[in-house]
Amino acid sequence: MRVAQILFSQGFGSRRECAALLAAGSVLLGQRVLVDPDEDLATDGLVLTVQGADWPFHEHALVMLHKPAGYECSTRPGRWPSVLSLLPAPLRERGVQPVGRLDEDTTGLLLLTDDGALIHRLTSPRHHVPKVYEVTARHAVTPEQLQRLRDGVVLDDDPAPVRAVAAEATGEHTLRLVLTEGKYHQVKRMLAAVGNRCDALHRSAFGALTIPGGLAPGQWCWADAAAIVPSR
Ligand code: URA
Repeated sequence: MRVAQILFSQGFGSRRECAALLAAGSVLLGQRVLVDPDEDLATDGLVLTVQGADWPFHEHALVMLHKPAGYECSTRPGRWPSVLSLLPAPLRERGVQPVGRLDEDTTGLLLLTDDGALIHRLTSPRHHVPKVYEVTARHAVTPEQLQRLRDGVVLDDDPAPVRAVAAEATGEHTLRLVLTEGKYHQVKRMLAAVGNRCDALHRSAFGALTIPGGLAPGQWCWADAAAIVPSR
């Protein structure tokens, strides 16, 4: 692929802006400064250095963000800044979108991608991708509450019960819930339906992906779609 096209496809601005980056000597392949926009490069395993930062080529962008509290998943946020403001400009330029939503006060693993088909595959309840939530509950968690969460509870917008694939206490006031759907405020509403209340919520896993050890709140890293739902 032509260098100018590579830069454009990876979110480095308009064709004119990509040409300007090359003309300014801001794009390197290893130690070599790339200046010719028409130079042909193989994209497999390609890592360019653009304005000092390494950019591995990705046909589609998929990243994990360790979402802090105080950010909205909406792309047109109201009261709180958007999670997109935590990502570098080329990812925003590529149009990455959150895969499902986490509430403003929920922390933890959020995936974002520019691959619409992947968003559909990962958020469709038919595909049963498990999401793991660590809940801090206002009241002590009882075995009856856990059983009701597993059996299914009815929420106010749908007569069909929603159930947790797994619900286990992790402390007197903490529990781990595994859900395969992603209804609006689902964890909070499920807790309320069994007579408790969610005081804090953290998503610790999405499919087989967990937040890498060194990824602090507010930081992001590239993710591999194949690692979300490993093939058997
Ligand atoms: N369920 C909720 O209630 N909130 C979230 O952010 C995610 C799941």
